[in-house]
Parts: sequence; structure tokens; C-alpha cells
Amino acid sequence: MNFDILIDRTGTEAVKWEETDKTGGGYPVIPLWVADMDFPCPPAVTEALRKRAEHPVYGYTRLPPSFFETLVSWYRTRYQVNLEPDDFLAGPGTVPSLGITVRAFSRPGDGVLILSPVYHPFFDMIRSNGREAVEVPLIPDERGRYHFDEEALEQGLAAAKNRGLQVPMTLFCSPHNPGGAVWDREELALFLGFTRRHGMTVVSDEIHGDFVYSPKTFCSLASFPEHVERVIVVSGANKTFNLGGLHVSHFIVRDAKLTRALKEGCRAMAFHGPDIFSRTAAEAAYREGGPWFAELKAYIEGNITRAVAAINTGIPGLRACKPEGTYLIWVDASALIRRGGFRNDAEFTVRLEEQGRVKVTPGSAFGSRGQGFIRINAACPREQLLEGVFRIKAWGRDQIRLPGAGSPESTQA
Ligand SMILES: Cc1ncc(COP(=O)(O)O)c(C=O)c1O
Repeated sequence: MNFDILIDRTGTEAVKWEETDKTGGGYPVIPLWVADMDFPCPPAVTEALRKRAEHPVYGYTRLPPSFFETLVSWYRTRYQVNLEPDDFLAGPGTVPSLGITVRAFSRPGDGVLILSPVYHPFFDMIRSNGREAVEVPLIPDERGRYHFDEEALEQGLAAAKNRGLQVPMTLFCSPHNPGGAVWDREELALFLGFTRRHGMTVVSDEIHGDFVYSPKTFCSLASFPEHVERVIVVSGANKTFNLGGLHVSHFIVRDAKLTRALKEGCRAMAFHGPDIFSRTAAEAAYREGGPWFAELKAYIEGNITRAVAAINTGIPGLRACKPEGTYLIWVDASALIRRGGFRNDAEFTVRLEEQGRVKVTPGSAFGSRGQGFIRINAACPREQLLEGVFRIKAWGRDQIRLPGAGSPESTQA
């Protein structure tokens, strides 16, 4: 697969491209923001969709057993987790599935614990359902890799409880978006121990689980048999195979009580199963997309390595650490934001888009702990990514009145 080819997404209403600044004298913005990839999905998916579309009856259709069998096989071969088809339930997409869990495992007025900064829909999900986000801050080490510790978890929870809040559940992001940490088994065990002590249900969003770079390996929360009574995994094919425009996901739930509550939650949403195209795509992807994904991951890792090196050289005020997982680069831009006289990362990213012609996600979108950061999506042809990084640096240097940024990374890399 040649991932260097830039696919023109014009005419597809692609959010990533359409929702960018259209001023600037027609000088297009490079979109390095929302987390989808500018790559075509695996050919096996297109083929399966074409085949299904050719049958002209799109009536009510049940989910075939093969849908869950492909997932069983993916989890066994990829993550060494042995599951049965009955351990899975289908979902309407990862984000809507998180919403179902919030309603199923907490009540209005309750707190939901999250480690922040974190994927912004976690906040929306909690607040729009009348719950309160109980934020425990993640702490970066000197490289910028995030960590959590028992004391901070206990303190954060105690402070919420002292305010009279019940905190029956947590939404957990593993691997971590936006920071890129791939949590070790020991870290996960510590977190699960904490949730057990406090009787909390853990919902683990593992949608980035396939994007994990050596020497790290992914450890799913489904691989802790001693915690099945509190753990629900939510994941899906959308990130791994770039199917964000489809609506399909899966839950892993292995406890009868949790399963009942989750099924009830799906019924309350009138969700009875993914549509024929979404589930056809997901099944084909998990069944046949493995070799395609291996090539893609290697390409993206190459992108990340080059982009991180470029970000860390030639301009003061930007600092990135190579993510252990995900295709997202989390950049500490606080010094540049300060030196450039911007009020915050939100203003910085707006100006960067208008003037520098690159769109990235402001760190504060991921909660107050993300202040001063920007998030760069590395899942696009290398030339596009490195041109984007070059623009950020060139524009950044202008803001702090340094001489020109030199030649584009695309010619140096
Ligand atoms: C942590 C996380 N969860 C969920 C999603 C979106 O999942 P879906 O498209 O299945 O709703 C994303 C997309 O960026 C994500 O980063």
C-alpha cells in the first residue's frame, strides 16, 4: 500500500477538510486536527461494502455469528486475550456507547471519575447527561509521558465524596488520547485496585489499542479475569481501519449483572444493532485487514518519529515526546504561546489556522490540564504532515520574531 499518495477528499463532506478556515486568499489549510486518517481503508473493506451494496434489498438484518467470531480471533491473536462470542455486545459507535454506559452505570447528579487531560467527548458525555466530571490530574514526567498515582486518585475521589458526590463509575482512556501513554499492566492493576476499593464500574475506551509502538505492548482491561465484575471495554474498528464515518463498535462485558444493565441501556436508546454497511465493513476489516494495518502502523510510526524530531528542533517553545501509542502527537507549546503573547492555546490555534494555514486541536479542548498544548494528528501522507509541521514552526518563529525557519522538513526528512 502506498500511503504517500494524497487522496483528494473534496466532495465527501470530510469534516477534517471542510471545517477549516476558507479565507487566506484560497491558500488551503493543512488539517492536522480531528482524528481520522487521510488514507483509504483496507481494500477488503471496500470490496465487502461493494458486494453488500450490490444486493438491492437493504431490509432489517440481524448480526451474523461471524461478526463476533472475527472479534474473538482479533483479541486472541493481537492481544492474547481469550474471549467467547458471548463476551461481546455490538454498539452504535464508541462515543455513543460511552454515553450508554454513563446512563447505565451512574445516576443524574453523580460524579464520573476521569483522568485528565482526556478525550473531550468524555466531558460532554458526562455533563450532557447531568453528571459531574471528577477530574484527577495526570502528571507528566520529564519526557512528557503521563502518569497517575494512587495518592492522587484517592485524594481526587475523597474531595468529590466530601462534597457529597457519589462516584459509581469511571471513564478510562487506554491507550491515552491525547497524551499517547500506553498504560502498563502494573499501572492498570493499580487503577483497577483503586476502583475495586471504591466499588466503581470501569469503562475502558480502547479504540486506540492497535496503535501501540514497540517496545510497548497493549494490555486490554479485558485481560484481568479477577476484575470482570467491574470492567466494560468499549472499542471499535473506526480508528484502526479508518471507518469514522460508519457507526459500529463493540463492548466486552463478562459479568451477568453488567451485561443486563448494558443491554437495558441499549434498549433505552432503541439501539438494536449496527446498520448493514457499518457491520459489514467492521467484520471485513477485522477478518482481512491485519496485513494492511501492519503496513499502516509502520508508516505512521515513521511519520511520528520524523515529526517529533522536527518539532523538537529549530524553534524554542515547542516540545513533544514520541507517543507510545495512538497516531496523535501531544505538543507542549506553552513557552511559544507565552513568548508570542497569546492569551491561551485556543487563541494560538485560531491564529495558527488563519495565518499559519495549519489546523491543530487546542490542548484545552481536553480539559484544563491540556492548557498550553496542541494536538497534532500524524495519520496523513508524510509530506502533508511535515509541511504542516514546517508551517507551524515558520509561523511560530514569526510570532517570537526569530529569523526564518529554514527549509521545509519535507526536504530534510
Ligand atoms: C479515545 C477515543 N474514543 C472514541 C473515538 C471515536 O470513536 P467512534 O468514532 O467509534 O465514536 C475517538 C476518536 O478520536 C477517540 O480518540
